Amino acid sequence: MSKTTQLHIGLFGFGTVGEGLYQVLRHTPTLKGEIKKVVIKHPEKTRNAPAGLFTTEAAAILDNDDLNVVVELIDDADAAYHIVKTALQRGKATVSANKKMIAEHLPELLELQRIHNVPFLYESAACASIPVIRNLEEYYDNDLLHGFQGIVNGSTNYILTKIATEGMSFPDALQQAQEAGFAESDPSLDVNGIDAVNKLAILLVHAYGIVSNPQAILHTGIQHLQSADAIVAREKGYVIKLIAQARKLENGKVAAFVMPQFVPTGHLLAPVSNEYNGVIIESSLAENQFFYGKGAGGVATASAVLSDLSALRYGYRYEYKKRYDQAPGELSNDFYLRVYMSFEGVGDVPYSQFAKVEEWSSTGHRSTVTGIVHVSKLLDTSWWQNAQTSVILYPDAILETLPAARETTIQTLPHHFANLKF
Ligand code: HSE
Repeated sequence: MSKTTQLHIGLFGFGTVGEGLYQVLRHTPTLKGEIKKVVIKHPEKTRNAPAGLFTTEAAAILDNDDLNVVVELIDDADAAYHIVKTALQRGKATVSANKKMIAEHLPELLELQRIHNVPFLYESAACASIPVIRNLEEYYDNDLLHGFQGIVNGSTNYILTKIATEGMSFPDALQQAQEAGFAESDPSLDVNGIDAVNKLAILLVHAYGIVSNPQAILHTGIQHLQSADAIVAREKGYVIKLIAQARKLENGKVAAFVMPQFVPTGHLLAPVSNEYNGVIIESSLAENQFFYGKGAGGVATASAVLSDLSALRYGYRYEYKKRYDQAPGELSNDFYLRVYMSFEGVGDVPYSQFAKVEEWSSTGHRSTVTGIVHVSKLLDTSWWQNAQTSVILYPDAILETLPAARETTIQTLPHHFANLKF
């Protein structure tokens, strides 16, 4: 495509993002793009666009040689996969916002782009409005990248913010996130950290050339946090955030995971509230760069889709340089994490899972442990993934080797530490 190419767009989905994109394109003549056809699922709905634009037939776009761009903005990841695959096979430049579909089919999607020599852009699939993919792909087109850490899911950040600042209950905060259009149609994808790990998997290919099944990456969400954890965080001068991170280790491999983490109140990520996302990218020369912006919602997502469309016009495509032109990175399963864990009861704390216990305390109802766990113990989820157990990382949680022994502290917890659920 060149700057003079007109984008004749076939759009799948006319929800908040799709309609927002349609309206914006009508008022952005400089983009030289027009939505010519829109495939929808429910023709009975009244829509704010000419009726002739709509069809329920995917073939009206995919078999139409006059359309050179496909934009896929539907919720159903399986249907999205078939649309994107067919569009790429037919040589159409394609834009998608479906992070689940992209993360789950990355190897094949990379191959389709290569075989059919066609661009596939998805900036909106990670952190919505924040151009983090293009930054990792272009600005950090070198081996200076130490790592990145960030809040990449707006819904869980919204819930954590409402609980911490307004004392709202978990279900009420989730309902608000759903009503505002931030949450996935299946909100367990947000709450359980799956949306965040899908985004992490997408970022890893651009940051380090790593293609990984997202399910194989250590992840959990905010589903098992206890309200007492928020009290402990406050007392320690922390806020709890769900953080996705990746860090290059001394041995050249990459530690990557999604976990709740204590963030010091003076840290750049601490004030990132509600549906906003924030990502810190650390490199040798630039040191820390901080990206902040809306991470969920129709308009924020449409903004990134629009940017992808505009990038298509100057021939932009992801080159996956770190995968194809450099030695691709490799995930490590050999590092330690400093964690805070709370368990129901006193007698059943699984001490043998810890490489070191640094602090232990109990109220009689619950026990908490600060300790160091090898990542392989956490990849086995059978002992810690349950509703009674919470796990929160300490700041700078990654340890490549076990620190020297320090005395274990045993305390009785303050009275308010009861087993209160969000
Ligand atoms: N459900 C997602 C989130 C939407 O809350 O971040 C944006 O990807």
